[in-house]
Amino acid sequence: MDLDLTPRELLTTTRAVRLRLDLERPVDRADVEDCLRLAFQAPNGSNQQLWQWVLVDDAPTRAAMADIYRAAMDGYIAEMSAKRARGSAPAQASGATQQRMTESVFHLREHLHEVPVLLVPTVAGRLDNATIFEQATRWASVIPAVWSFMLALRTKGMGSAWTTLHLHREAEMADLLGIPSRVTQVGLFPVAHTIGTDFKPADRSASEATIHWNHW
Ligand SMILES: Cc1cc2nc3c(=O)[nH]c(=O)nc-3n(C[C@H](O)[C@H](O)[C@H](O)COP(=O)(O)O)c2cc1C
Repeated sequence: MDLDLTPRELLTTTRAVRLRLDLERPVDRADVEDCLRLAFQAPNGSNQQLWQWVLVDDAPTRAAMADIYRAAMDGYIAEMSAKRARGSAPAQASGATQQRMTESVFHLREHLHEVPVLLVPTVAGRLDNATIFEQATRWASVIPAVWSFMLALRTKGMGSAWTTLHLHREAEMADLLGIPSRVTQVGLFPVAHTIGTDFKPADRSASEATIHWNHW
């Protein structure tokens, strides 16, 4: 049954869910497909609908996807620490909020294979050497739909988290899932029911400072 959320509640409480993904409760394919149908209403360039959506509920495939995610994440962490040691990357942020997020990110790393459904949204074409116009147009032809999908999940008591770490090993994921080489992956999205449905708005304390009226 859909949750009774006001638009304001929906927009302020659709969070990155990692610690509260219910790893025990199965997800109904029909519910996920319904969320995608809502997502397909999103704006996209010239209404070309260049997106394709790979949903995985097969356990061995999810395990292999999680292995790729973990290897990509570990490689990225090692690369960033080496850069920090050389002084060519900023020091890691500290504080309680950052600590909580790091714990949550590592929790997802450990449990990704247990998440009932994993989604890899894709968009046609490659952006490797694209102009800013081409990049902005192509990315914005799929990302609004992905966010709509996450909002739709929330209305059904499910949740997800935007992740891009596996893209460090994009080719391995493409091989595993049979994604053609002329297609670009957007990220990897865990899909599960949430443990409880009560989520709080995030603290986006810097937002006021980013608003400019009439001139930067
Ligand atoms: C482009 C992008 C990439 C992200 N990549 C990852 C990721 O690889 N792994 C992960 O656990 N979270 C990832 N996140 C989730 C962010 O950490 C999360 O959205 C942010 O901390 C805000 O969380 P909140 O909306 O719950 O406050 C990503 C988010 C975005 C928008």
